Amino acid sequence: MAKTINTIINNEKHEIEVPYQMSLLELLREELNMTGTKEGCGNGECGACTVLLDDLPVRSCIILAHEIDQKEVVTIEGLKNTGDYEKIKEVFMAEDAVQCGFCTPGFVMAVKALLNRTKYPNDQDIKEALGGHLCRCTGYEAIHKAVKRLV
Ligand code: FES
Ligand code: FES
Repeated sequence: MAKTINTIINNEKHEIEVPYQMSLLELLREELNMTGTKEGCGNGECGACTVLLDDLPVRSCIILAHEIDQKEVVTIEGLKNTGDYEKIKEVFMAEDAVQCGFCTPGFVMAVKALLNRTKYPNDQDIKEALGGHLCRCTGYEAIHKAVKRLV
């Protein structure tokens, strides 16, 4: 069983037929070749696959592709064309908050969602925004400090 959906992904309109069981992550990576969104745990627990759905951060491995019908998705590829991406990248580099980089697109999308909500996040806002994002390499303090630099 499949469904035809109309969606906007990174500012581009798509009309696509998607199987009912396909996840948004599979659609992005396997059908649309948007491999910047990473697959970690595959069950909603690591945050590596985070994208924005109508401006809210979601874990694309546990969203079904057909659920984005009539909605707008932004992935790390879409964010790359924006000034916010450059700012976030700069502070992550400045604080050595990137090592292998696997988790980074998910963190960056979570930070973008946070900045959409408030231009002046406090420590608690940052903690909540990054909560549940796993990083095996960097240590969360560097990432937290990087986000603080944006304020
Ligand atoms: S791959 Fe989606 S939350 Fe881990
Ligand atoms: S930088 Fe390697 S998992 Fe986070």
